[in-house]
Amino acid sequence: MRTDQPQTIYLKDYQAPEYLIEETRLRFELHDDQTLVHAELQLQRNPARGAGLPPLVLHGEELELLAVALDDQALAAGDYQVEAGSLTLQPQGEAFVLKTSVRIHPESNTALEGLYVSGTMFCTQCEAEGFRKITYYLDRPDVMSVFTTTVEADKARYPILLSNGNPVASGDTEGGRHWATWEDPFPKPAYLFALVAGDLWCVEDSYRTGSGRDVALRIYVEPENISKLQHAMDSLKKSMRWDEDVYGREYDLDIFMIVAVNDFNMGAMENKGLNIFNSSAVLASPRTATDAAHQRVEAIVAHEYFHNWSGNRVTCRDWFQLSLKEGFTVFRDAGFSSDMNSPTVKRIEDVAFLRTNQFAEDAGPMAHPVRPDHFIEISNFYTLTVYEKGAEVVRMLHTLLGPDGFRKGTDLYFERHDGQAVTCDDFIKALEDANGADFSQFKRWYSQSGTPRLAVSEQYDAAARTYRLTFRQSCPPTPGQPTKEPFVIPVQLGLLDGQGRELPLRLEGEAAAQGTDRVLSVTQAEQTFTFVDVPERPLPSLLRGFSAPVKLSFPYSREQLTFLMQHDSDGFNRWDAGQQLAVQVLQEMIAGQPLDTRLVEALRTVAADESLDPAMVAEMLSLPSEAYLVELSEQADPGAIHGARRQARRTIAEALRDVLWQRYRSAREESRATPYQASADHIARRSLQNAALGYLMLLEEPEARDAALEQFEHADNMTERLAALSALVNSGFEQEKAEVLARFFEEFKADPLVMDTWLSVQASSPLPGGLARVQALMENPVFTLKNPNKVRALIGAFANSNLVNFHAEDGSGYRFLADQIITLNRLNPQIASRLLTPLTRWKKYGPARQALMRAELERILASGELSSDVYEVVSKSLA
Ligand code: TRP
Ligand code: ZN
Repeated sequence: MRTDQPQTIYLKDYQAPEYLIEETRLRFELHDDQTLVHAELQLQRNPARGAGLPPLVLHGEELELLAVALDDQALAAGDYQVEAGSLTLQPQGEAFVLKTSVRIHPESNTALEGLYVSGTMFCTQCEAEGFRKITYYLDRPDVMSVFTTTVEADKARYPILLSNGNPVASGDTEGGRHWATWEDPFPKPAYLFALVAGDLWCVEDSYRTGSGRDVALRIYVEPENISKLQHAMDSLKKSMRWDEDVYGREYDLDIFMIVAVNDFNMGAMENKGLNIFNSSAVLASPRTATDAAHQRVEAIVAHEYFHNWSGNRVTCRDWFQLSLKEGFTVFRDAGFSSDMNSPTVKRIEDVAFLRTNQFAEDAGPMAHPVRPDHFIEISNFYTLTVYEKGAEVVRMLHTLLGPDGFRKGTDLYFERHDGQAVTCDDFIKALEDANGADFSQFKRWYSQSGTPRLAVSEQYDAAARTYRLTFRQSCPPTPGQPTKEPFVIPVQLGLLDGQGRELPLRLEGEAAAQGTDRVLSVTQAEQTFTFVDVPERPLPSLLRGFSAPVKLSFPYSREQLTFLMQHDSDGFNRWDAGQQLAVQVLQEMIAGQPLDTRLVEALRTVAADESLDPAMVAEMLSLPSEAYLVELSEQADPGAIHGARRQARRTIAEALRDVLWQRYRSAREESRATPYQASADHIARRSLQNAALGYLMLLEEPEARDAALEQFEHADNMTERLAALSALVNSGFEQEKAEVLARFFEEFKADPLVMDTWLSVQASSPLPGGLARVQALMENPVFTLKNPNKVRALIGAFANSNLVNFHAEDGSGYRFLADQIITLNRLNPQIASRLLTPLTRWKKYGPARQALMRAELERILASGELSSDVYEVVSKSLA
């Protein structure tokens, strides 16, 4: 907890470190009631900071200093100052050795930052500034050091002792204890440090790199999970191959380890050679994990592995540059997932997620640029903007340079900056230098926050056979940024004729047409492009593949959207045309008008189309989410949004009953006939099957209920069983609902990850009485506030995925959430802060709800000593 006023840190104040740490030697003595950390640091004055020997200020939090020595001279109390976050002392020469010993308490660390205990093991999480809770250090990413780490613990309870790099020595000591020493030859910032001790089992495999080196691969878990590692191991090997093939990047140590832990604040962490994962991001088996969970494991394993180059070998100079590694690595893992699965479906999922969640962040009180320029608590900036919008920015660079130019740029970036801590500017400069490009205007994407609007209008001249597209860009004000300069917006597009064929694209001034799909760069506030030789009035297909993270508008008629849904050659835009049509229709319904049946007829065509990828059919059948409809509203009415969407879904189910049953039955029959496979075609089949079941259950007919029960009972995999469970939970079949919930609980109560889904399904059910159900579940022994996955599964699902119940008019949902945040603020500030998100969106709702939400934010602010995490979000939300 903070004791002084939280301070804002500014990018403009960046200064290189006064001292560097050449070598770091650590010794950990792990005990039940305390851990001793002995550090020996070889320090040196940073030559880049010139002459003189300023005081050395080391970071350190919640450490009990036991001893400190400079060049083997023990220091007396007057020789140094210990303050809340620091240890200050005066060096006597340019190079010196500092030794410290501290006592820490991982056994009572509920914040899950630094060294902590999860279940039966010790583990660490140091990013961003957690290493300072382990020992006094220069805990900043531009201080890179080689680490040697010795871990000593009870041998029977902690037979496995791990750290970064390679194992170099081990042995036994008195009292049944033992030790192991690890050496990491690659200089790294402290945030990549890791330590694990426990009674762990592992699966082992190996990988031969392109240059012929063999790398040992190990994934460690608590023994009960040993059978759920095959998918992660397969994903790891695929990632290693892919990074060689696509980016020319090989792994660099002889061993690569992953450890799964149950208590973890985020998805996973890319510690050098020793990734630590939330068990939800590693464990997968057909019986316990859905297809989506399998794909998440594959993506996160890849993401952390890819960080070895984009993050570890080349790291960040300071935390303002976080997107340098995160945006780029998300872009890389998206490319991997896209190559391993259906590229169109992957893109649809990513864009739906970005538009729903990142656009909302960009429109809220915590809006910030991809490269923020100030923060109070860096943990609050692991955001959708830094990660997802950051990845979109890299994707635009890829679009502008083309795959070959982009690869030349990344080759130069990795070569030029290997072993360095650099900035987003360095990344752009490498792409520019390798291609002779100029991205000076493009770089506004890093410094300007907010989601740009791009309004497009058309003008066809039949006599001149010209077609003009005029683009007008603007960007709403965001905190600290009242006005913006124009962005570079790559618009990928095509023009369709009346038969849905693509027209050749020739711009005015060009000698010949250049294909039927191309990218225009919109760089001005208003800009017109004129196509020539256009034989008829075309229908434009704009922003194909979502080529820029903007809100595009074009005055399409509903007939034109239906036409695009059927004819566009770009799969993403076919889906998007359907979404735009559905949004228009739903917005009318929210305003009290009846359902426009053109939507139903368009979906009928989609549902019956056997030539379409079933996963695409499933995507196109799913209406825009409640959360997306909220994001699109000026002033959201949760009841009206929920009601309109449910009414539309019911009407669609009735109208499409026959085709939905037909598709459901044929898919379910195939599922019954073939054992589970996580392959793309099987995943696609199951997603359509489950989408159909979801619709059919809305009819509340015995036939659908029986189908859901059959699927719940007989399916051999979690994807089908969970879909059946969730359909029943959201139905009015009270008795069946209670039965399947109880049976699911009995079958899986020993599996924490499956219990997470059991909690989530109930927490997100829109049926009346949601809060009472959630409160009852908090009393269930499987729930604990100390486990972030449980908090997300129950409280997070209620606040983020249960629109009507969370926004109950009496404010009970808000009050409940604030109560949990006040408790969590003391236990785990990072989780408390993340749970605040739905309350920060108060401006989206009507005056009554606004007042209730603000009152809860005020109550949190007044509730006592706030962590910097919670303080920053609450105070910015109220400002
Ligand atoms: N670097 C991690 C990733 O994106 C993020 C992360 C893991 C993290 N654990 C964290 C960030 C704890 C802040 C706090 O791959
Ligand atoms: Zn990452």
